[in-house]
Amino acid sequence: MKMIKCCVPCLFGLESLVAQELKNIGAQAVQTENGRVFFEGTKETVIDANLWLRTGQRVEIVLGEFPARSFEELFEGVRKLPWEEWIEEDGRFPVKGHALNSKLHSVPDCQSIVKKAIVRRLEGHYKRSVFSERGALFSVRFSIFKDRAVLMLDTSGNALHKRGYRPAAQPAPLRETLAAAMAMLARPYPDTMLYDPFCGSGTLLIEGAMLARNMAPGIGRGFSAENWQSLPRELWQERRKAARSQAKKDIEFRGFGFDIDPKMAAIALDNAKRAGVADCLTFAVRDVKEFILDTPRGMVVTNPPYGERLLDVEQARQLYKVMGKVFLKQAGWRYFIIAPEKEFEKLFGRPADKRRKVYNGTLECNIYQYFRN
Ligand SMILES: C[S@@+](CC[C@H](N)C(=O)[O-])C[C@H]1O[C@@H](n2cnc3c(N)ncnc32)[C@H](O)[C@@H]1O
Repeated sequence: MKMIKCCVPCLFGLESLVAQELKNIGAQAVQTENGRVFFEGTKETVIDANLWLRTGQRVEIVLGEFPARSFEELFEGVRKLPWEEWIEEDGRFPVKGHALNSKLHSVPDCQSIVKKAIVRRLEGHYKRSVFSERGALFSVRFSIFKDRAVLMLDTSGNALHKRGYRPAAQPAPLRETLAAAMAMLARPYPDTMLYDPFCGSGTLLIEGAMLARNMAPGIGRGFSAENWQSLPRELWQERRKAARSQAKKDIEFRGFGFDIDPKMAAIALDNAKRAGVADCLTFAVRDVKEFILDTPRGMVVTNPPYGERLLDVEQARQLYKVMGKVFLKQAGWRYFIIAPEKEFEKLFGRPADKRRKVYNGTLECNIYQYFRN
C-alpha cells in the first residue's frame, strides 16, 4: 500500500504529545521537529489523524521537499511534484506559506511562483490553460527554511482546535489543543474526579471528559479533504463510524467547573452540551477562596487568570497565593496549572514535581505539575 507522508504543525512544546497521539492511531515513521511532527500512513491514517488528534493543529500531506535557493529552483521543484494526484480539474488551490532564514524571503513572490508552477503542472496533465477553481478546496502550504522548501496540501480546513463546541467571542479561552495537552498530561482515569476552579468556558473539563471517554474530538466537524475524490466520502464515513464505536460513555468520570463570573458557568454548560459531555460535567459559580477539597482524591487542571487579559499582574499573583493556601490543604490531590508567571511556584508555595514549557500562542507559559503526595 502506498504510504502518504504528512506533517502536523502544533504549538511549541506539544510535539511529543502529538507524536504519541499519532503512534496511538498507527502512524509510522513519526518524527518531531520544533513546532511540527511528520508521519507516514495510509489514507485511513490521514482521516484518523483529523478525527482523533487532540493536540495537533492540522494534517498536511507532504508533496515533496527540495533545495530552493532561487526562484528558478523553487519553480522547477514545485512543477515536478505530482499535484494532479490530489488537485482536481476544478479544484481551488490557494497558496500560503512562510520563509525563514533563507535566500528566498519575499513570501508574496514565493506564493506567486508556487502558484504558477502548480498551474504549469496541471496544464500539462488536464490539457487546459484556464482553471475555474470552483470545486473542492486544496489549500497549498509551503515552508522555506534554511533554503529548503517543503510543499504541502492541507486536509483539515479549519484548524483542528476548532472542534465545533465553542463559538467564537468568549473571553480569555484556552486553546482546545493546549487544554487537551494538559488533560493528557494529567491522565484522568475512567473514575477520576476532575476539577477546574477557573473554568471559564469549560474547555479543560470538556477536553478532559472527551479524553476520559475516548471520544474523537473531530467527530462533529467537517474537513476540507472530505470533498476530495482521492479520500472518498465512504472512507470518511467508515472511519467516523469506527471512531464513534470506540467512545466509552458508561464510565464513572465526573468533572466540576467553578468560576466567579456567573455568565461563564452558563456558557461552559452550553459548550459541554454541544460537545456531548454535559451529562458528566457540573458547573457552578464559586470564588476560588471557597473551593472545597472534600474528597480524599481528586485532580485539578486549571488555567487561572494571567494578568494579561483578565485582572492585572499583581492581582493574578495574589490569586496564585490563594490557590496555594486552598489547594495544598489536602494530600492525595494532583494539580496541573498553566501560567506564564515565572515565580508561580514560589507564590503557590510548593516547587512543582515537573514543569513543561509550552506556548499559549506567543505567550511562554509553564504547565506546573504536582502529582507526588
Ligand atoms: C483564563 S480564564 C479561564 C479560561 C478557561 N480555561 C477557558 O478555556 O475558557 C480565567 C477565569 O477565572 C475566572 N476567575 C477570576 N477570578 C476568580 C476567582 N477568584 N475565583 C474563581 N474564578 C475566577 C474568570 O472569570 C475567568 O473565567
